[in-house]
Amino acid sequence: MVIDRGRVISPGRVNLLGEHVDYNDGVVLPAAIDRYINIHFHRTTDKSVTLYARDLGEECSFDPRQLANKTALDGSPLPGWAMYPAGVIWNLLNYDLPVEGFSADLHSDIPIGAGLSSSAAVEVGFAVVCEALGGWELDRMTLARICQEAEHEYVGVNCGLMDQFASACGVANHIVMLDTRSLLFRPVPLPSDTGIVIADSTLRRTLVNSAYNERRIDCEQAVAHFRKGDPSIRALRDLAPEWFYTAEGELPPGVYRHALHVVEEIARVDEAIRLLENNDAEGFGRLMFETHRSLRDLYEVSIPELDILVESAAGLEGCLGARLTGAGFGGCTVNLVYKEHIDNFVARLGEVYTAKTGLQAQIFATMPSKGAHLS
Ligand code: GLA
Repeated sequence: MVIDRGRVISPGRVNLLGEHVDYNDGVVLPAAIDRYINIHFHRTTDKSVTLYARDLGEECSFDPRQLANKTALDGSPLPGWAMYPAGVIWNLLNYDLPVEGFSADLHSDIPIGAGLSSSAAVEVGFAVVCEALGGWELDRMTLARICQEAEHEYVGVNCGLMDQFASACGVANHIVMLDTRSLLFRPVPLPSDTGIVIADSTLRRTLVNSAYNERRIDCEQAVAHFRKGDPSIRALRDLAPEWFYTAEGELPPGVYRHALHVVEEIARVDEAIRLLENNDAEGFGRLMFETHRSLRDLYEVSIPELDILVESAAGLEGCLGARLTGAGFGGCTVNLVYKEHIDNFVARLGEVYTAKTGLQAQIFATMPSKGAHLS
C-alpha cells in the first residue's frame, strides 16, 4: 500500500528479564510499552527530507542521497536526534529500498534517554514511514535488523537487537520472547493479575554508550579465552555456569565478573520462561530481584538511585519483582506488581524515593502494546 500522508506510532520498550544478553546470543523478554514516538508525515515533491522535532523546537533538512558525511542540507553536522532517522534512511538506501522525499513532525511521550529505547522507537518509526511512502514491505524482523545495523554503522553504538525488535514486533498484552541466536520469537502472556510499573529515576548518564561498548569488549574477551580450548564456542550463550566458573583466576577479575553476569543471566531466563509458562508470578518476580543484584554487583551498571528504587519497591505491598531495565547507568526500573495494588504502589514508591533522595521519580503503569504501525 502506498500512501501520501499519515501518522506512525512507534513504541518504546521495557525489558522484563535477560539484561545485557542480547549481544551474547541469549534470550530476552522485552515488551513494547504504551508510550510512543508519534510521527506525522507527508510526501513532498522534492527529494529532500525535512524533520521537525516538536519537543525540542528544532528542524533539520537533509538529502537522503548525501548522508554519508552526516550533514544537513546547509552543510552543518546533523544534530544528535536526527542521526537516528538519517541512519535508517541511509541504510534503507544501502538495501536499494527507495526513499521518497517527505516532511515529518515528531514528538515523543517516551521519556528520552531513560533506558526505554526512545531512539530505537525513532528508528523503527521512520522505517515504517519510509515503507508506507515507498510502497515496499519488509517483514518486521528484517526491518528491526536494518535499524540495528544503522545504529551500529551510522550512530556508532554497538547495541543488540532487543530494542528495535521490541519496537517493531511488540504484541499487545504480551512479553515477546526473542532468541537472539536463532531470531525465533513468540509472545508470552504476562502472569495473570499482574501489571508493569516503570519508575524513572530521572537521572541520565552521558557515558552510557562508551561503557556499553566496553562491556561488550569484556564479553568478547571471555569468549576468546574459552575458544582457545574449544573453537566451537561462539558466544557466552555456549557456556553453562559450571563450566564458566572454572575460568575464575584465569581471566582479569573485571572481565570475569562481567561475563559471569551474562552467563548466569542467560540461565535465569531459561528458568524464567518455565515460570511464566506455569503462571508463577512470584517466582518470576524473585528472578527480577536476582537480576538487579547481578547488574549491580557483577555487571556494575547500576547507580545508587536505581538501587534505592528497587529496595523501596521490595518493601511495598503487591510488588513481586523490581530491577533496573535497559543498559543501566541511570534511567528506569521495571516492577511487576499485582494489579489491585498498582495505584497504591505508584504513589508510595514516589513518596519513599523522594524521602530518600530528594528527587521526584516519574512513575507510571504501562501495558504491553503492539509494535510500530500506521494509525
Ligand atoms: C541497550 C541496548 C540493547 C540491550 C540493552 C541491555 O538497551 O540497546 O540492545 O543490550 O541495552 O540489555
